[in-house]
Amino acid sequence: MIRNATIHDVPRIGDIINSHAELGKMLFKSYAQLYEGLRDFAVYEKHNKVVGCTALSIIWADMAEIRSLAVDEQYVGQGIGRRLVEWCVEEARRLQIRKIMALTYEQGFFGKMGFEVVGKDSLPLKVWSDCVRCPKRDGCDEIAMVRELRDVPMIVMPTSAPTPKGVSVPVLQGMDDLAD
Ligand SMILES: CC(C)(COP(=O)(O)OP(=O)(O)OC[C@H]1O[C@@H](n2cnc3c(N)ncnc32)[C@H](O)[C@@H]1OP(=O)(O)O)[C@@H](O)C(=O)NCCC(=O)NCCS
Repeated sequence: MIRNATIHDVPRIGDIINSHAELGKMLFKSYAQLYEGLRDFAVYEKHNKVVGCTALSIIWADMAEIRSLAVDEQYVGQGIGRRLVEWCVEEARRLQIRKIMALTYEQGFFGKMGFEVVGKDSLPLKVWSDCVRCPKRDGCDEIAMVRELRDVPMIVMPTSAPTPKGVSVPVLQGMDDLAD
């Protein structure tokens, strides 16, 4: 069964992700990061035990990223990873986000889930915000993969960033006095 994660799931999510992170397969997650991003998360429960997790994070108007996809080592190969990716796809569809991306070492798995390899420079810059926490940083060897949901209409992208209206900038008087 897949359900949205709750605050009670965080220690278990951390255990699953970090057991793979120790093997260099994904990035470590702190409790602080997990609490902060918890609304993006779903978990897979089997016999009342959380055995897998995933997160879908919104990157931009036309793109979301699958993050923190991990299945407990004892439960791999049972179709749980597929179900978690399907949850992400349904979530993107619900949000009307057309493209889903992943940065991964698991090209074979994501290929089976309908993702295609793309050039990393085709992705929005915002994707790389997590890289400051990665020990590999500039030497990133993960593969960028994208799946496009063709049934979700293309969005007309805003042409410029919104600017706040009606904001007045206070003019400081007597700056010389302040400097003294
Ligand atoms: C990658 C991972 C999520 C796959 O989960 P899983 O539950 O074992 O995958 P599933 O059983 O749902 O597999 C679905 C399909 O993908 C295939 N598959 C799974 N892992 C694969 C791999 N490494 N290479 C190629 N195919 C793979 C399965 O054979 C299955 O194919 P089928 O439907 O034709 O039988 C899991 O191995 C994992 O947690 N890995 C470590 C963390 C990680 O790398 N996460 C990805 C971060 S982006």
